[in-house]
Amino acid sequence: MGKVYVFDHPLIQHKLTYIRDINTGTKEFRELVDEVASLMAFEITRDLPLTEVSVETPVTTAKSKVLAGKKLGIIPILRAGLGMVDGILKLIPAAKVGHVGLYRDPKTLLPVEYYVKLPSDIEERELIVVDPMLATGGSAIEAINSLKKRGGKNIKFMCLIAAPEGVELVKEAHPDVDIYIAALDEKLNDHGYIVPGLGDAGDRLFGTK
Ligand code: URA
Repeated sequence: MGKVYVFDHPLIQHKLTYIRDINTGTKEFRELVDEVASLMAFEITRDLPLTEVSVETPVTTAKSKVLAGKKLGIIPILRAGLGMVDGILKLIPAAKVGHVGLYRDPKTLLPVEYYVKLPSDIEERELIVVDPMLATGGSAIEAINSLKKRGGKNIKFMCLIAAPEGVELVKEAHPDVDIYIAALDEKLNDHGYIVPGLGDAGDRLFGTK
């Protein structure tokens, strides 16, 4: 079964409080999401493999470590996932970025793929699917299905806030996928919003309503 990691670092929790605040405007909201995405990327890359090299310091030759060049792919779920991409790229600038767009079918209420553009070698990459909110789990499950259908194997899911209901469904549907969260909230309300949550992440990022 996939593991669930809650990144409750004080800086993340502090910034998340202002992200939740209804009085935080679009500019600040966007900046805070970007910063939290960077902090989460720092944690999520903790197990990246290293390799030893020689380096000339002004004093001597030293053995030191550099990243072994593991290939990464960041996959935002459109549209709110876009708000987390730049923050991650600040730490991992060589990562490729793929996009998955989903809409909710008004009859079945199920997510349907409308846009998928991925790096050509996704089967070789460690893929991090990002979306600020893991609510019902429907979009996360479908986005991960989209990657697996196209050869994605090594997949992680990262979000700011999750509802327990969504976490359970993603774990059941994709037991091979670890989930990284900044806060695990209480529940979903009747409209599918996370409680207490932060409202609609896409609207707050892009200033729409
Ligand atoms: N999507 C959001 O943007 N917010 C929620 O609370 C749930 C899903």
